Amino acid sequence: MPASMPLNHIPPEIRCALDYETLAPQFIAAPTLAYIAGGSGHDQTVAANRAAYARWAITPRLLRDVSAGHTAITLAGIAMAHPLMLGPVAFHNLVHPGGEHETVRGAAALDCPIIASTQSSCTLEQLARSAGPQRWFQMYLQPQRADTLDLLRRAEAAGYSAIVLTLDAPIQVASLRTLAAQFQLPAHCVPVNLAGYTPAQESAVAPGASRILQGVMAAAPNWDELRWLLTQTRLPVWAKGVMHGDDALALQAAGVAGIIVSNHGGRSLDGAPATLDVLPAIRAAVGKDLPIVFDGGVRSGADVFKALALGANAVAIGRLQLYALAVAGALGVAHMLKLLREELEICMALAGCAHIDHIRATALFHQREHH
Ligand code: FNR
Repeated sequence: MPASMPLNHIPPEIRCALDYETLAPQFIAAPTLAYIAGGSGHDQTVAANRAAYARWAITPRLLRDVSAGHTAITLAGIAMAHPLMLGPVAFHNLVHPGGEHETVRGAAALDCPIIASTQSSCTLEQLARSAGPQRWFQMYLQPQRADTLDLLRRAEAAGYSAIVLTLDAPIQVASLRTLAAQFQLPAHCVPVNLAGYTPAQESAVAPGASRILQGVMAAAPNWDELRWLLTQTRLPVWAKGVMHGDDALALQAAGVAGIIVSNHGGRSLDGAPATLDVLPAIRAAVGKDLPIVFDGGVRSGADVFKALALGANAVAIGRLQLYALAVAGALGVAHMLKLLREELEICMALAGCAHIDHIRATALFHQREHH
């Protein structure tokens, strides 16, 4: 069945945010969907991210007055209408001809900050012109410091208000699902932001040496690179891909503005734990003050509530934004965010939480696993 073009209305099948994922196969060609939905390796971590939510339940509370309630938060000094962001996701033109321009219009309509991916289908300057005021820029440390600096200066000049450094993908891991679907990036999906920069080069290794460790990883960034980058900008720098309390502590000591607890949506180390499962220990390690954005498997307002209750300050949406974009462009993205927000508000109403701070102080009910 060929994939349908994006609609200019919301189809009646969409009743909750998760429905965008359910409907996506009608709007995204099967090989492309394999690339988007799939993770690395055998998709173990993709599955783990989703499964983790079912182990926690939200306890209803009675007779509390939430009539003055709201979802507004302040995240590292930034006022936000709700604790939702759009996380960095490559090549939106895979699913919609308008690409990121559509996505960011939908986000702006819901006052939702976006994190633009380095691997976007348009340049960061073009994207900035379509985006709302709350825009952050995601980047990777480039093999050449001059290129990293150039990217940074461009992001500053284009008015991005924070830098997100993604640290968890120094090596590309194949997705078996994507390979089986014979997906190839189409010719119009090129990382235009990186045009003219020096790509990572695999070092030649001696016979018998490791191609991965000594070859590919020879160009991978290290703590010195991170510390150097932190001296190069006055913008707040967030570290994305944190999965261990000790890394979180070291990043905090290095001076990051905040961390993003993420396993790249299960697209880097297959077999990594669910992000929801590591979140409480990371929050305990860094204490209450370091801002934590969380992502991985968020598909409903209840998922958002659980992540906030387990220690996140805000939540980033990955795949769901592409599914909503594929179904109904900017309108779909805005609608998906509205649904998520209302689903979150319903949880707040029934759990007796008038404010996001109350969620953070709410203990979840841990369900026993049934085998
Ligand atoms: C990603 N992600 C990602 N992360 C990043 O830092 N830079 C990037 O360019 C991309 N690109 C990208 C493409 C696609 C197709 C996906 C699905 C994901 C990871 C993303 O920011 C986020 O961590 C996860 O997507 C969160 O999990 P969910 O919400 O997709 O389950």
